[in-house]
Amino acid sequence: MATLSFYEGVNPSAGISGDLPTQFIEEERLNRIKHSAWHFPIRAILSCLQTSAVELGDLEAIIYPWDSPMYSDGRLSRFYADLNRQYGSDSETLQWQQANISRFDPGSVKERLRRELLREAGIELPSNLRFAYVPHHVAHAFSAVAGIEQARALVLAIDGSGETLCTSVWLWEHPELRLIWSRPIPHSLGWFYAAITELVGFDAYDGEYKVMGLAGLGTPSQSVVKSMQMVLHPGDDGISYFLDRSYIHAGAHSFSTRFTDKLPSLLGVTPRARRARMEDAYIDVAAAAQAAVERILVNICKHFVSRYRPEIVCLTGGVAMNVKANGAVLTETGAPAIWVPPYPNDSGTPLGAMAAYCAATGRLMPDLRNVFLGPYYDDGVIEKQLITAGIPYSRPHDVLQETAKRLASGNVVAWFHGRSEAGQRALGARSILGDPRSPAVAARVNNVVKRRERWRPLCPVILEEQCTRYLVDARVSPHMMVAANATAEASAEIPAVIHADGSIRAQMLRPDDNPEFSQLVSCFKELTGIGALINTSMNRAGQPMVETALEALELFGSTAIDVMVLGPFLVEKNGNGHSLDLS
Ligand SMILES: [Fe+2]
Repeated sequence: MATLSFYEGVNPSAGISGDLPTQFIEEERLNRIKHSAWHFPIRAILSCLQTSAVELGDLEAIIYPWDSPMYSDGRLSRFYADLNRQYGSDSETLQWQQANISRFDPGSVKERLRRELLREAGIELPSNLRFAYVPHHVAHAFSAVAGIEQARALVLAIDGSGETLCTSVWLWEHPELRLIWSRPIPHSLGWFYAAITELVGFDAYDGEYKVMGLAGLGTPSQSVVKSMQMVLHPGDDGISYFLDRSYIHAGAHSFSTRFTDKLPSLLGVTPRARRARMEDAYIDVAAAAQAAVERILVNICKHFVSRYRPEIVCLTGGVAMNVKANGAVLTETGAPAIWVPPYPNDSGTPLGAMAAYCAATGRLMPDLRNVFLGPYYDDGVIEKQLITAGIPYSRPHDVLQETAKRLASGNVVAWFHGRSEAGQRALGARSILGDPRSPAVAARVNNVVKRRERWRPLCPVILEEQCTRYLVDARVSPHMMVAANATAEASAEIPAVIHADGSIRAQMLRPDDNPEFSQLVSCFKELTGIGALINTSMNRAGQPMVETALEALELFGSTAIDVMVLGPFLVEKNGNGHSLDLS
């Protein structure tokens, strides 16, 4: 039997799991709208059903990664009432609370699904289909533990907010998950970082990684650091922390709903307009905010690692997209190992919810070590698209060797291989690759292909056995989710993938994770002596990663990418930079 799960919100997604290979995809990959915030994930749901050849009537249950019954039985209303008594409220907060209560009510969830299935595909939702509900942070936690081999783990889920929780700490002792500590709304590290993101001129729930990238360039004064502590301050017990609502929610919001006018005034900056110059003052604000979040995460983790002695620490929730903070947890808390799934944000909660359902019903959880969960594209279909588009291509005897040669000669290569990877990081299914020895290749990728800001580093894929050569702390990080300091050898040999702060956010590649990709990097190593490549996602700035071969070809035709590899097929530009005509 199979279960289906879907998430609505920022980065909506759907997955299916059970007695069949797990399928998963984010809505943005299918509707081509970055993040697809609050789009109902109907395309993702239909894609999962179609790829799995499962009918709705065959499903055992639909698992919703949110504790909806809390919204209909009065518990959430009472929680909000207590919150408002304790912290005061304003009309925007009351509206947000009311919207949540109606949106997450079980009847509303079911009705949205029923209506979207009917409108999109003419499918009736079976009236007897069972719904089960998994609390949001439980779903986050299971999305991490279903990917590890260790039986005993400390799990931190840190995000904007779930139903009531913003930060939760769990002890995983297979197959049980137990809550050991938490911080509720309004003490949200996700909301804090979202406020800073908007203050320095980006969009919340989108530009946080840019703030993290900027932070590596900043040197905030003591006064900015102290001011930041007034907004987000650690408690006396060494683990608690408090977010002062008067800087975030309670008060006038002239510039952004994410922070009040008190915040820029306290930090001595005017909110940065999106197109304004990036002044040093904003970079310093980013650095101070990053340091504040890192300190709190390190404090919490250190405390519970010392108390529970886990075999591994799992980080999940949207804040765990912050690879620099994850790196600090790895090196400063005594954690023996760290695991961050490639989808720690809300998009991964359907996978976690289905794993939680399995654990609760005494079944094997889906094995989430495999991250290639998107639809499959047959070589025959790809070849047909190449022929239809009239694009010259070849099918080399050894496509890996041919690709490695082109990479070694400085070509930028788009690499489309098999089922797409879950999450926001390219892990070798939809990647743009380049020579990590060459800052010129990195500049071409950044400026011409991706048009990214100068402070955003490119990440490498590094063969597992080469990681100790290039990373100061080379513990397992297969998803580019943990930053580590670069070694002297890295500075000498792969300068194109080192960030300004001296860190590398590597995909540590084990052969079993993706055999063909691993062989490609090995071929490059045979040619150059370097067991690493620039590996960045196959998309233009502001767009989702490509999903289909046709989308990949369209990107190839409209950018300065030199070579595209689609499964066994190789497509090259004619050497003088002309775009392909895909019309
Ligand atoms: Fe979340």
